[in-house]
Amino acid sequence: MSSGAPPAKAPLGDESATRLSEQLRRERRVSHALREVGTALGSTLDLDDLLELILSKLTDLVEADRATLYLLDEARNDLVSKLVAGGEVRSIRMKVGHGIAGLVAQSGEPIRVEDAYRDTRFEREWDLLTGYRTTSMLAAPLRNHVGRTIGVLQVLNKKGGKGFSDDDEAILSALGTQAAVAIDNSRLVLSLIQKNKQLVDTKEQLERKFRELSLLFELERATARAQSIDELARATLEQMTRATEARAGALLLATEDTGDLVERLFDRDRPESLARRPVKAGEGWLGAAMQAGEPLLVEDAAGDPRALAAYPFDVASVLAIPLEGENRSIGALALLTTTGERRLGDADTGLLRLVAANVATAVRLFNASQAREVGERLTSIGRLLSQVIHDFKTPMTVISGHAQLMVDADDRTARQEHVELILKQFDVLSAMQREVLDFARGKSALFVRRVYMKKFFAELEGQIRLEIEGMRVELLVSVDSKLVARFDEARVARALHNLARNAIEAMGEHGGRLEIAAELRGQELVIRVADSGPGIPAEVEGTLFQSFVTSGKRGGTGLGLAIVKKIVEEHGGRIDVRSSERGATFELFLPQVPATAAEPRPEGAR
Ligand SMILES: Nc1ncnc2c1ncn2[C@@H]1O[C@H](COP(=O)(O)OP(=O)(O)OP(=O)(O)O)[C@@H](O)[C@H]1O
Ligand SMILES: [Mg+2]
Repeated sequence: MSSGAPPAKAPLGDESATRLSEQLRRERRVSHALREVGTALGSTLDLDDLLELILSKLTDLVEADRATLYLLDEARNDLVSKLVAGGEVRSIRMKVGHGIAGLVAQSGEPIRVEDAYRDTRFEREWDLLTGYRTTSMLAAPLRNHVGRTIGVLQVLNKKGGKGFSDDDEAILSALGTQAAVAIDNSRLVLSLIQKNKQLVDTKEQLERKFRELSLLFELERATARAQSIDELARATLEQMTRATEARAGALLLATEDTGDLVERLFDRDRPESLARRPVKAGEGWLGAAMQAGEPLLVEDAAGDPRALAAYPFDVASVLAIPLEGENRSIGALALLTTTGERRLGDADTGLLRLVAANVATAVRLFNASQAREVGERLTSIGRLLSQVIHDFKTPMTVISGHAQLMVDADDRTARQEHVELILKQFDVLSAMQREVLDFARGKSALFVRRVYMKKFFAELEGQIRLEIEGMRVELLVSVDSKLVARFDEARVARALHNLARNAIEAMGEHGGRLEIAAELRGQELVIRVADSGPGIPAEVEGTLFQSFVTSGKRGGTGLGLAIVKKIVEEHGGRIDVRSSERGATFELFLPQVPATAAEPRPEGAR
């Protein structure tokens, strides 16, 4: 009866068991695939690898013949195939709203088609083009984390001739979500990388700008302080080589006076010395750059025929930039590196050009100010010369006075005395001449030393007496005989002669009293010159000490008081004047600092 046993139950149970276990296996494969994709998502950054994995799992799980992933190109409203699994890879581009994938992109809803050729939404061109025969289709949108459609995932031709099922749609949607996450992530990472790169670039640019600016600032400061072309060269080359870390820097310039070319070299290994050497036009790298009027980059300097002999190190690379003058090159500036250092390249040209422009301007300004200074000095020499000539009057008067007296003296010793006093005036004259020459050479030195007042005023008195010989002028000199003071004897004597002469001239034919007195008041030596003349004319009172201010006398140049003021100021002192119709009084205040041990002793002192 075993054959008669009811057959129905067992087969039915078997069938459902088979179906169930198949479903279970499928579910396992799906969850396995999702896990695999999930892991890859967390560890793989390469988007193509990820998408390829997703597509191959997808074709496998839904038993499709082919799978395509389209990405949305929003700018052009196109779908572009990113990857195709199960067929040759071709780039497919289609309009949003056209074809199955295009419609899915537009509506954001999945579409399932049993037989494509009976569906009007299907576009056959691709099949015609590739020879492929599409039957069943399933397409679903890819949405990013905010729900925006970013593409379409599509599978074709379910194997076994059936159409795609609800299960397939669920798998497609699950893997679609994974793909969208991967794409989103990768775009995020890409944009982060790009942003980061932009930031790094900007930072580098800023740093470079900052370095350039601070170099230029330092250069500006250093060149402004430079007192000579050598100092200017050293400051420039030192800053420039430090900033670029090049071994050495060189500056080629024509000298102002002769126009001869001199190359100066600053070597960072010998920072204390600046080597100079004469160069012929067009010679060496700097000469070549200057002559050509354009930058010269020698990336491999070893054996370069233009090299000048005897650089104190092996030159590996050179970059030379001409210095632009008004309408021609006025020299050149160069950086030099040695073996083991980086090679100079085009990237260095920008900075060096900036520095060269700066140096060219500094050199031009320097030369211009130098020329101006010479001009100013010449004018000053003229002024000084006129003052000296003005003051020649005193020694001349004294000399001619003694010469007169000599004629009348029959005593040999008396004559000898006059000769000595005359010779002394020649010393005064040559001291004045020296003053002008020293000044022309840029030197102006006061010869301040201790002076015995008694002796000084005795000589002055003697000289003034010669001047007032035969006039109705009473001269009174009063000075503390023990007094010692500090000043430049020759110049203060000149000042006092000028004051005395003015007083004598003011008193004129009527004559009067001329009083000269010296005393120490605190830290100041005060010398007073007072007369009993008519006082200072009102029209010159305010401008008394200016050059060429004169009044009420024939042949006055108006330099006397300007000279007095200059001499007093050279001593750091000041001058006062009081005047009334009973006479004028001038007072000189000469500051007296305590004497130092090294000071020269007064003449004649033991
Ligand atoms: N002691 C004085 N009494 C009256 N006037 C004076 C006296 N000293 C100077 N002055 C006035 O000041 C003017 C300027 O004097 P300053 O010595 O500078 O020039 P100057 O005597 O006119 O010419 P120079 O000294 O060059 O021969 C004089 O012309 C005179 O008018
Ligand atoms: Mg005068």
